[in-house]
Parts: sequence; C-alpha cells; structure tokens
Amino acid sequence: MTDLTFTRLGADAQNAIYLQGLQGARPEIPSAFANLETRARDVMSPEAWAYVAGGAGLESTMAANRCAFDRFAIAPRMLHGAATRDLRVTLFGQSLPTPLLTAPIGVLDLAHAHGDLGVARAAAKLGAPMIISSQASTPMAAIAAELGDNPRWFQLYWGKSDALARSFVQRAEACGCSAIVITLDTTMLGWRPRDLDLGYLPFLRGRGIAQYTSDPVFQTLLPAGSEANEFAGPMVFTQVFSEPALDWTRIRQIRDWTKLPVLLKGILRADDAAMAIAEGYDGIMVSNHGGRQIDGAIGALTALPEVVAAVGGKAPVLFDSGVRCGADIFKALALGAAAVCIGRPYVYGLALGGDHGAAAVLTNLAAELDLTMGLSGCARIADITPAVLRPAA
Ligand code: FNR
Repeated sequence: MTDLTFTRLGADAQNAIYLQGLQGARPEIPSAFANLETRARDVMSPEAWAYVAGGAGLESTMAANRCAFDRFAIAPRMLHGAATRDLRVTLFGQSLPTPLLTAPIGVLDLAHAHGDLGVARAAAKLGAPMIISSQASTPMAAIAAELGDNPRWFQLYWGKSDALARSFVQRAEACGCSAIVITLDTTMLGWRPRDLDLGYLPFLRGRGIAQYTSDPVFQTLLPAGSEANEFAGPMVFTQVFSEPALDWTRIRQIRDWTKLPVLLKGILRADDAAMAIAEGYDGIMVSNHGGRQIDGAIGALTALPEVVAAVGGKAPVLFDSGVRCGADIFKALALGAAAVCIGRPYVYGLALGGDHGAAAVLTNLAAELDLTMGLSGCARIADITPAVLRPAA
C-alpha cells in the first residue's frame, strides 16, 4: 500500500510555488542549487562562508564529487505506471517517509541564529532523521527536545579520551538517538585554505563545542577554578579533539557502551567496507566529508559501487558528499545507497531563511526525487536499481 501523503510530493511542491507565483510572489528559497549557493554566500559572513563552503587544498575532491554524478545518466523507462510514488524506506527497523537524512554538520549557528534547533525543526517537518553532530553549537539534549518524536542519530568524533567518547554515546542514547555514526575521516582536521587564509577556526572561539562543554566527563578535564574563563573550554577541546591514532581495536569498545546500531562514516574502499562488516558494524556511510578532509580524493559516488559490492547486502550503505538535486539522490539510490544524507544544501537554506529555509531545501529535494522517480517509471525506492542508469557519454 502506498503512503498517500507522499504520492504527489513533487506536484504538490510545484503547485504551491506556481500558485504563489500567480499572486506575484517568488519563492524565498531558490530551487536551483547554483542560485541557492550564491544567495547564501551573500548573506553569510566571510568566515561562515569559508567554513561551510570550503574544502581541503585545491578543492579537487569537491569537484570529483560532482564529476562522479556526471558520469552516470538516468535511462528513464516509459509507460511504466508510476502514477503514485512511495518514497518510504526502512532503516534499522524504523520506517522513514523519504530516504533523506540531514548529514551531521557542526557550528550551524554560523549560518543562521536558528542553528541546530532550526535544522531540528526542518528535519522534523519532513520526518527526516537528524544526525546530531559532535560539533554542534547546542547541547544534544536541547536538540533532541526540539525534535520531539522525530528520529535522531548521533555522530561521534572519537577523540583522545575514550571516557569522553563513552559519555557522548551514553548521553546520545539517553536523548533518544536510535543509531550512532562514528566519523572515521577526521582523525585530524584537513588542510583548508579558505579557513587558513582568514585565520578562522570556530572551535577556538568557543563555537561548535557545546557537546563538550555540556559533558560531565569533559568538565572534569577543565582546570580547577576555570569556570569563568571563556578560553578554558576551547583550550581543553583542542587537547582532546581528534585522535590520529584511532584504529579498529579502539573503536570496538563501543559495543560495551551501547546496543544501538553503529555506522561507520567515511568509508571509500571495498577493503575497509569488508573490514567494517567483519567487525560487525551495522551500517556504512560512504562519504569523503564533502571534500573537506583530503584534497585529490576519490569522488564519493565513484566509491559507492565497490563499497556496496563488498558489503553484499549485509548492512545498509548510506551515502553523502556532493548531493545537490533530486537526480543525484536518485543516482545514489540506483547505485545501492539505502538512504542519502543532505549536507551543504540545507545549510544554505538555513542561512537564507532559518528553519523555513532549511525545510524548503529538504522539501524541494524530496519533491525533485519524487518527480524523477515518476518520470523514470519507479514507483518505489526499491525500483531504483542499477538498471535505470547508463554511463554518461
Ligand atoms: C561537515 N561534515 C561533518 N561531518 C561529521 O561527521 N561531523 C561534523 O561535525 C561535520 N561538520 C561539517 C561542517 C560543515 C560546514 C560541512 C560542510 C560538513 C561533513 C558532512 O556530514 C557531510 O559528509 C558533507 O557535508 C557532505 O558533503 P556535501 O554534500 O555537503 O558537499
């Protein structure tokens, strides 16, 4: 049985916009990504723009992410009866209205004062799980409260202190997070020229470290009597954030801390994917962190088929990095992604219109996916298989 709420998502979004247009109104949030990006840049401070839009080195990984999408073309099937669509997927036993999640993104208040809570409201509007970041500017309990019944996962940066990692995981579980995502690709911060050239790292200014400063284990690391010292938190943060020596043995401990499903984010190779499955992890996120970590890395979509093949259906493979439109989501699903995380686009929506702006971006992406499915003869997400793709010329 199809879910009637979502069968006309695309047409509903179009109709709402065109009807407003009849009354002389244009949408506040552009639906073309290029316009969204340009307009967001206009309203963001140079530091915020550099932090959000920038990547590692020459930003060739960011370019590779886009090129990877261009290498596949959709071969639509005609007269195939996809008049209504069902966009639902099930992940870890939870039914979701669309295959979209919000990627974990730190320091969201750089984009707009609504910050993490604005994204929580936007994600809840679509019923998309929000992956709460370790680098959020709002403590996870407050984000969880804003999410109400909406699903939420927690993204863990495993730093130098295992006790702190454990505390994060246990707090996340207490906040109703239904999965933990360990980000593997940030054992050190990538070389990011845009931020370097402005001499700007938000964390050193006390931004994006709310999960730490609100944590009881972190608080024990602060020097005695430093409560009133605004630099104490950032200083201790720099000592514990990121662990270049992190390895498979170390992260195994998480199984003693929680029974929640654990996903590994940042896998880009078949051998690492096979190791993740052998180690018993519950899911994989193919991602190159939006090109922010290694310059000259493989485009994330290029890596997806080999990871999906290595996993062999034993766990869901999620995808992010470079997703900018509904067709991108469709292509990632066709190559075997179980769901797709949206990154920078929702941040640009947030910058332009706060919670409504982020929600508009997510809705537009789901609408465009819905239309792409209908126009390609795919009534269900499961119908989006490699058979709908061809190599692009
Ligand atoms: C990120 N990303 C990220 N990932 C993560 O695991 N924890 C985090 O705190 C952050 N923070 C963060 C901040 C900013 C400003 C960006 C743009 C990205 C990476 C994020 O989860 C995702 O992998 C990328 O955003 C995907 O790339 P695109 O689609 O945004 O280009």
